[in-house]
Amino acid sequence: MLDITVITLFPPMFSSPLGHGILKKAQDRGLISVRLVDLRDYATDRHRITDDYPYGGGQGMILKPEPLITAIEDVRRRLKNPRVILLTPQGRTFNNKEAHQLAREKELVLICGRYEGIDERVKTSVDDELSIGDYTLSGGEIPAMVVIDTVARFIPGVLGNIRSAQEESFNNGLLEYPQYTRPEEFRGLKVPEILLSGDHDRIKHWRREMSLNLTRRKRPDLFRKAPLTPEERQRHAQPLTHLYLALLHYPVYDKNGCVVTSAITNMDIHDIARSARTYGVRRFYVINPVKALQKLAAKIVDHWEHGYGSSYNETRKEALALVRLKDTLDDAIMELEQECGSRPCLVATTAREIRGVQKTSFATLRQMLKESLGPFLLLLGTGWGLTESFLTQSDYILQAIEGSDSYNHLSVRSAAAVMLHELLGNG
Ligand SMILES: C[S@@+](CC[C@H](N)C(=O)[O-])C[C@H]1O[C@@H](n2cnc3c(N)ncnc32)[C@H](O)[C@@H]1O
Repeated sequence: MLDITVITLFPPMFSSPLGHGILKKAQDRGLISVRLVDLRDYATDRHRITDDYPYGGGQGMILKPEPLITAIEDVRRRLKNPRVILLTPQGRTFNNKEAHQLAREKELVLICGRYEGIDERVKTSVDDELSIGDYTLSGGEIPAMVVIDTVARFIPGVLGNIRSAQEESFNNGLLEYPQYTRPEEFRGLKVPEILLSGDHDRIKHWRREMSLNLTRRKRPDLFRKAPLTPEERQRHAQPLTHLYLALLHYPVYDKNGCVVTSAITNMDIHDIARSARTYGVRRFYVINPVKALQKLAAKIVDHWEHGYGSSYNETRKEALALVRLKDTLDDAIMELEQECGSRPCLVATTAREIRGVQKTSFATLRQMLKESLGPFLLLLGTGWGLTESFLTQSDYILQAIEGSDSYNHLSVRSAAAVMLHELLGNG
């Protein structure tokens, strides 16, 4: 049972937050009790004045020391050994760890300032000063409510399932993974397949990865301090990118402008996988609908991943581990959608000009990759390039690589390396 006393000029402000939901239930079940003390009851004059002008001039009014200190003394007398906390923007920043510790106390006293603040001498009567963030509110009531709500969640029995407090954002030093509920599909947005699989180990692993990725992208400050396993630390030591590559063998033009399926080239797989690994690309899809060609590619990858090649050249093995073979682009999109929780943004590439289409510059895409949370799939064409109708159906078309003159015939392997350098390179 945590006994909380709040000293405030506005006790009625607390009735709504304390009168609903988890905080109401916690009081009903006797897990917390909140007593509101009206500061005005400690004013000594007949107008019950609690504030006065600041010495030295300046804006606004200041809470006087006598009523506040008398109130604190009175509350201390009534309690056994309370921890008295002043809510002030100058305090230590309140967080989940702090809340967890406060939940172990038996008695808390929260003091809410108002106006331009409190007389500095009041600080001699408190044990601690807490701020709820680097911004200024008009009073300490909302900060006190924030503290009460957060602390209560750590008191055993307040949340139905104590694990839900442990799994939430910040408790393991990470942000929480994305959550979904019914329906399975809403306005075309699907719940990641893995969450429907019933495979609890895979779900646990997926959630952990999501937490790691989200925290790394959104809160690098937390990520640096988070307790990761050595394996996770190593894996996340690579630069963060959510860029994926797909090498398409259909639909592409041949040199006569006919739409064909091109053959898989051994060297494309090796070189693009090596570039992908160098620039931290997550995965490299090799897409070809012809089963015989896929089989050939699978043999090459297997040789370097598991066969003799894997011990002959370990760095090649690492690069080729990024390769996935798929029949169609849709298969790759579906896989990414399930894993990442959102459909990848499709970025097509071509050396050709396309009438009426504005291309996206390397700088713009680089920025989007930095800011966006969702996956991006960079589409590379083989043969004489991806067909025009295919290109115009993608979300973006990337600007062409420019050389010194109009000669523009890079191999897809070289083009991939240049693009990755423009988008992810450190230089
Ligand atoms: C307008 S503020 C006074 C701010 C004061 N002049 C200063 O700059 O430190 C009035 C009261 O709101 C509360 N308050 C405002 N912002 C807060 C924050 N970020 N965390 C905790 N309490 C805050 C404090 O109790 C404060 O005394």
